[in-house]
Amino acid sequence: MTDIEQLEASILDDIHAAADEAALESVRVATLGKQGSVSALLKTLGAMSPDERRTRGAAINALKDRVGLAIADRKAVLKDAALDARLARETVDITLPVRPGPLAEGRIHPVSQVIDEITAIFTDMGFSVAEGPDIETDHYNFTALNFPPDHPAREMHDTFFLKPKQDGSRLLLRTHTSPVQVRTMEREKPPIRIIAPGRTYRCDSDATHTPMFHQVEGLVIDETTHFGHLKWVLEEFLKAFFEVDEVKTRFRPSFFPFTEPSMEVDVGCKRSGSEIRIGEGDDWLEILGCGMVHPNVIRSAGLDPDRYQGFAFGMGIDRIAMLKYGMPDLRAFFDADVRWLRHYGFRPLDLPSLYGGLTS
Ligand code: PHE
Repeated sequence: MTDIEQLEASILDDIHAAADEAALESVRVATLGKQGSVSALLKTLGAMSPDERRTRGAAINALKDRVGLAIADRKAVLKDAALDARLARETVDITLPVRPGPLAEGRIHPVSQVIDEITAIFTDMGFSVAEGPDIETDHYNFTALNFPPDHPAREMHDTFFLKPKQDGSRLLLRTHTSPVQVRTMEREKPPIRIIAPGRTYRCDSDATHTPMFHQVEGLVIDETTHFGHLKWVLEEFLKAFFEVDEVKTRFRPSFFPFTEPSMEVDVGCKRSGSEIRIGEGDDWLEILGCGMVHPNVIRSAGLDPDRYQGFAFGMGIDRIAMLKYGMPDLRAFFDADVRWLRHYGFRPLDLPSLYGGLTS
């Protein structure tokens, strides 16, 4: 065997032994690279006689070509093998059942759902949504709403007060959404038509009361707004919300410092056992407070009560959610128990709308 044949045999062995592209690349460098064995042979040509160089030169160049081809062949084989291995590794079994994603598993809390429903109904009637802070001043929660200083109603609200400041004033957690009435009248010029859903706080806890609960406030201020408008708006709302054709309402005289006259509204219902049906029967269920906004409130918000008047109402959101969807205990609303949420929650993409159906 000539030295060239010997070298070729050993290089071909190395090429076939290369198990991956990296190993093959090392063989290429060790043979055809600048310092490689084939390149070293080529360098010997310089010292040869012209005759010798012709025959040796042709033989070495032919070796170089064969080695180059063998490497290219091996490379193609390794590439295919690598692709096959990767395809085998990454196979997906499309017969496996799809794992439920967040959209299938997640649920909208009934309070959020009911707020969306209320918003859909009132925005359809031309109301917009207003907001106010949960942490309020005594002024917005009480004084501007015509609660006299030391009036017992301030105590009736079971207010959570924050620590008094240096000047003796203390912030509080709003006990109702009515402060948003004042904030809105200060900010906007009539005509005003807003609802203000949000969190409210009172120091109270049993099956139908939690220290944090939700209310929605309604406020309409214009020059000729009257009690008839209030009654129509509330009845339209109740029919749409409870998804019934007719509701009976009963307006009972009541007292709130910020409305005059003040009313509590009962809705006609039928009770059988623990079930309550709205829109039928001869029983009554109290669901909200309302009245014509007191001139003092309009004045303290910076509007002229001789020119502007209107109505306001306030309703417990959790309570009407319980009524509509039949949850027996309010406290469970805030237990963050996923089993409860799975049972009573709503699918995220079923947004309530009047045309698509509130609760389809
Ligand atoms: N803010 C009152 C409450 O929490 C409800 C109410 C609002 C009554 C607006 C009249 C007008 O009990």
